Amino acid sequence: MLSKHSASPLNIFTIMTSLATQENAYNLSQGLPDYPVAPELQGLLQEAVTEGYNQYTPMQGLMKLRENIAEELNERHSTDYCSPEIITITPGATYGIYTALTTIIEKGDEVIYLEPAFDCYLPAIEINGGIPVKITLSAADNFAIDWQKIARAITARTKALLINTPHNPTGYVWTQDDWDQLAAIIEGRDIYIVSDEVYDSIVYDAHRHVPGFLQESLNNKVISVYSFGKAFHITGWKIGYCVASKEITEAFKSIHQYLTFSVNSPAQYALAKYLEIYEKGAAASLLQGKRELLIEGLKTSRFKKLPTSQGTYFQLYDYSNISDLNDVEFAKWLTTAHKVATIPLSAFYKMPQPDKIIRLCFAKKDEVLRAAIQQLGKL
Ligand SMILES: Cc1ncc(COP(=O)(O)O)c(C=O)c1O
Repeated sequence: MLSKHSASPLNIFTIMTSLATQENAYNLSQGLPDYPVAPELQGLLQEAVTEGYNQYTPMQGLMKLRENIAEELNERHSTDYCSPEIITITPGATYGIYTALTTIIEKGDEVIYLEPAFDCYLPAIEINGGIPVKITLSAADNFAIDWQKIARAITARTKALLINTPHNPTGYVWTQDDWDQLAAIIEGRDIYIVSDEVYDSIVYDAHRHVPGFLQESLNNKVISVYSFGKAFHITGWKIGYCVASKEITEAFKSIHQYLTFSVNSPAQYALAKYLEIYEKGAAASLLQGKRELLIEGLKTSRFKKLPTSQGTYFQLYDYSNISDLNDVEFAKWLTTAHKVATIPLSAFYKMPQPDKIIRLCFAKKDEVLRAAIQQLGKL
């Protein structure tokens, strides 16, 4: 079989989602909301089509959308760094990550990434001719970032680091101190950072998202990658954006124009307008309520909660009190025998993991969460 990467041709996310459908299970597996999209956003998409936004938009994206993103980011992070020139609209974050790597790396360059990792990272590095260098973080240490391991992994061939904050699946949100540690490690080296920040607006409690593109100590070598899918519960729209220095943005655009050229026009129009009216912080407070519902509901169960999610749609749980099955078998059994679909932690590693940990997605209707909690509570 032809293959340019070493990841599984059919990943566990796909397997669990189709098993959930087949078993008619409460689906806490894939990271996609099951509740409706804001009516205003639905109306704006219809308006876009009737207003004639049906043809190609400029290659970098609709100016109004880029202006509104820049304004929003500047306001949120108390800066004036962002402008439409350094923002490129993309067909989702997966594309943004891939194209960022295409922009940066040459064949044989090493790219460091941290496991547990979102499933597209490894294939995106390999398809682009890079050599993946993985740093495995351990469940026993609550997935604490091992800076010494990262420092030791850097060689003369290291071209980029691929990081993710807020982190899927652990829910960890990088602090300014984390960024400073990274900057200290790569100081004086010509290393780029691809920073997957798709959950930037979904952070809880007193946690704050610190964006990569604002890190002056990283010498403007960061590409921050975003997705409207997570922020506005529209994962199927597949639309996002990248923020990087002017120089990197120019290089990124030179590839982007030959990969897709233009991104869905009606969606760009709708999002540009929606950014002007939506209630800021609404997604985070809705999801924080759902996180509480799940955590409270499972408090008396035999599932052991790992550190409380600081951001994202996800919470990790240990099931070692319940079963000796490995995580993939356990997740399948839970779906077929108890009608709750989840994702085994091994989905985020190249090799199967010995840990007895599953990821639960709480971006679901309250009634689905309650029904799933009831099932899980019986175990
Ligand atoms: C960490 C992370 N990065 C990227 C993506 C993909 O985003 P998009 O659907 O915009 O490609 C996801 C989706 O689940 C994700 O969890």
